[in-house]
Amino acid sequence: MTEFHFTLHATDGAARTGRIDTPRGEIRTPAFMPVGTAATVKAMLPESVRETGADILLGNTYHLMLRPGAERVARLGGLHRFMNWDRPILTDSGGFQVMSLAELRKLDEDGVTFRSHIDGSKHRLSPETSMEIQRLLGSDIVMAFDECPALPADRERIASSMRLSMRWAARSRAAFGDRPGHALFGIQQGGLERDLRAESAEALREIGFEGYAIGGLAVGEGQEAMFGCLDYAPGMLPEDKPRYLMGVGKPDDIVGAVKRGVDMMDCVLPSRSGRTGQAWTRRGQVNIKNARHADDPRPLDEHCTCPACRSYSRAYLHHVFRAGEMISGMLLTWHNLHYFQEIMAGMRAAISEGRFAAWEADFHATRAEGDI
Ligand code: GUN
Ligand code: ZN
Repeated sequence: MTEFHFTLHATDGAARTGRIDTPRGEIRTPAFMPVGTAATVKAMLPESVRETGADILLGNTYHLMLRPGAERVARLGGLHRFMNWDRPILTDSGGFQVMSLAELRKLDEDGVTFRSHIDGSKHRLSPETSMEIQRLLGSDIVMAFDECPALPADRERIASSMRLSMRWAARSRAAFGDRPGHALFGIQQGGLERDLRAESAEALREIGFEGYAIGGLAVGEGQEAMFGCLDYAPGMLPEDKPRYLMGVGKPDDIVGAVKRGVDMMDCVLPSRSGRTGQAWTRRGQVNIKNARHADDPRPLDEHCTCPACRSYSRAYLHHVFRAGEMISGMLLTWHNLHYFQEIMAGMRAAISEGRFAAWEADFHATRAEGDI
């Protein structure tokens, strides 16, 4: 059986390209992972998600434990079979979602008790229960159970939260056990404090993981502050293991993160904004709701080869959005996911050919601010 293994193929400045081999297939890096929170990438069939170029999807412990329940998914053959996606799946561990979505949260050393945002039922998550749920789901890349304070937070709060997450990371490692072909990733915390990021990275390296995530960013600090942190955070993590920036981001965030040494990212943005009438293109953002598209026979992007751009006009996309037709979310999500994957493919090729700076200059030169 193929083990979980990361191979670095080339670097260009801090940017890296490579491949993660898993028993369920390879993940080309830098990789963008579409989000399939509730066992679906909303408005897309799994085979369509694959056609956009995705090698791996993200699922959520928090949502799936509440509905339909991890035991049920396990009885039905695991998450891959349940949702009809046989390639790699990474699952987030739940702590971060509890903090942003659940009600009546109570945090202690052992874990967190909370009420479901769906029906108010009471649940508990800890490093041990999160590892068990992710095992029942059949996740290929399991995330350590962590906690992340909402920013802005004072330094003491960030430090104590990070240290709790590092104790939970050690418990996650112990509870994960020996699972060949599956990987456990640790999550660096520490806010925007360089020394706390270093302390967190050291604690994670000491424990030892198959990959390392950068958590606690893209939580309202702004791009400049996030890039400031990414100027040093990836370099604190082992060079020979994948580095995953959680919850990022817009196309220019993704490019800036890859430039700084990040190998994997996930974000709801392409799928969520597809359902709210927002398209991301090479030339900038298109708000399809806008009346000026009503008579426009051109596609969203004349250079794009996705089904939305190949066969439909802006006028049609405007109409179906205004009419509340489901095909609107389907076509815009497909286009957005296709565009995000095209960015990743472009960066992978540029890094392997040592022309990332030129690729990045062209990426920025092609784009306009505001609606196009
Ligand atoms: N998603 C975005 N940020 C984070 C984080 O800091 N931790 C976890 N577990 N998930 C995230
Ligand atoms: Zn398109």
